[in-house]
Amino acid sequence: MAPVLYRVNYERGRWGESQILPYGPLELDPAAKALHYAQSIFEGLKAYFVETPTPVVFRPEMNWQRLNSSAHRMEMPELPENLFMEGLFAIAGLNSPLIPRQSRQSLYLRPLMYGTQQGIGLASSDTYTFMVIASPGEALTSQLLRVLVEREGSRAAVGGTGNVKVSGNYGASLRSTAAAIRCGFDQPLWLDALTHRYIEELSIMNFFAVIDDELHTPELSGTILPGVTRASIIELARADGIRVHERRMEIDELLSLINSGRCTEAFACGTAIVVCSISTIGDQDGQRYELKEPCGTVAERLKQKLLDIQEGRVADRLGWMCCVPAHYCPK
Ligand SMILES: Cc1ncc(COP(=O)(O)O)c(C=O)c1O
Repeated sequence: MAPVLYRVNYERGRWGESQILPYGPLELDPAAKALHYAQSIFEGLKAYFVETPTPVVFRPEMNWQRLNSSAHRMEMPELPENLFMEGLFAIAGLNSPLIPRQSRQSLYLRPLMYGTQQGIGLASSDTYTFMVIASPGEALTSQLLRVLVEREGSRAAVGGTGNVKVSGNYGASLRSTAAAIRCGFDQPLWLDALTHRYIEELSIMNFFAVIDDELHTPELSGTILPGVTRASIIELARADGIRVHERRMEIDELLSLINSGRCTEAFACGTAIVVCSISTIGDQDGQRYELKEPCGTVAERLKQKLLDIQEGRVADRLGWMCCVPAHYCPK
């Protein structure tokens, strides 16, 4: 982990003074609400420093808005935008010597907020901590994903917390992930909890398929996390003349379109991996569906377009990149 963190506490109904501290273990009351009732939310985004004069952060206002949606859902206080941005800038800036100045490398920023009040009774916390920590991200690989359709377990139910980034969603996904790995796959492919017929997403990535040269992705139904990368891919694809359909996608329909050769590519996208092609979709009956273009020409083109913007090789016409002010960076 990067050696410094940003912290600001909330008490008596207001956010206090922010601090930069050495990275280290927390002191947390054993009865803190976050530990018992999961008032714990987080975000994930990256700082890039490849061909720009200062480090840049990708669309951070979207992560700030999503953090506050998560806070709202979990009965936690909103965080003002200036504190979110100050935390990102301070941690990206102070750690800028750790950001590899190479393509496909970055510093991963992890803002998080949790309830700190002591109390065994089920109620929302009166006190909170917001932090930003960072970790030099692993270089992106061009490894292909193998996903296993999850026909029993569910990630998110209607009215639940699937469309926000709350820690409990991820803990609850681990058992299916472990089962998928035991069967020789990398990740489960989640379906809707009610009927187990419609594709939702992966545990930390959104899902796309290329069918008849057009892009299809599950619509944001309220149980899918609205990914920043997903939104960006949709914009870039449309600007590139590719038709994009956000719709309910039935898993059995997709599997037969793979068999008939009309679905040529499938890929996952998210901050961590940007875009990653899927080579194989496995089903619980042991069937494996191999994608015709496992190295994904559409996926690769969109990934390169996104990386060109993030790494500063092309003009940022859409205003997606946010420069870390120079005074946050050590000389
Ligand atoms: C469940 C889930 N879906 C999708 C994504 C991709 O979102 P983003 O592109 O904002 O990283 C993430 C990662 O945050 C996630 O946790």
